[in-house]
Amino acid sequence: MERVALTSDLLMSRNSMLADAGNRSSAALPRFDRKTLRGAFGRFATGLTVVTAASEDGPVGITANSFSSVSLDPPLVLWSIARSSRRFAAFADASFQAIHILGADQMDLSRRFFHDGRDFTGLGTSSGIGDVPLIDGALARLECEIVRRVDCGDHLVLIGEVRAMETGDGEPLVFSAGRYGILAAFVT
Ligand SMILES: Cc1cc2nc3c(=O)[nH]c(=O)nc-3n(C[C@H](O)[C@H](O)[C@H](O)COP(=O)(O)O)c2cc1C
Repeated sequence: MERVALTSDLLMSRNSMLADAGNRSSAALPRFDRKTLRGAFGRFATGLTVVTAASEDGPVGITANSFSSVSLDPPLVLWSIARSSRRFAAFADASFQAIHILGADQMDLSRRFFHDGRDFTGLGTSSGIGDVPLIDGALARLECEIVRRVDCGDHLVLIGEVRAMETGDGEPLVFSAGRYGILAAFVT
């Protein structure tokens, strides 16, 4: 296990620069190497979702593993969208979004919406709250109204309140360290 740390010199200069900048921008500050940081974050195994919304240019989707459940009462979930994404405006502006939690047999769907957010051809779809495209066959589907948007570094965190949901049966699709997987077994 290799440890990577910002040195105390770098941290001191980072802290004084943050004070100078009034915490507004970290553009010129010392930072972790992106690849190393991504490697560490990526060790966390997640499920996979496809998030969909209606937009001015029609239906849009994106593969996202930043999804997390937050609260049961009220029923809140979150996911985050990269500011660099060409799909950013469509999702940042959408009041309603559907989160599809993918099953082990839906790797193709994940790949499709990783590459292209506009291609719904051949998918079984229907229309949900706010005209949001709902894709058939997910392990669970949460139709959400976005109740809060939080600026967070190079991502925007979208917090949604669940307005409708459906749950199916099956095993989840898993993602860790850049690889798709399925669970071999649950321990007890
Ligand atoms: C497993 C996986 C998880 C991802 N999770 C997110 C996510 O949570 N948020 C996000 O903005 N992009 C995420 N992406 C990237 C998007 O799916 C998509 O590839 C990216 O937005 C492509 O750039 P574009 O929107 O400019 O076409 C993820 C990609 C993969 C393969």
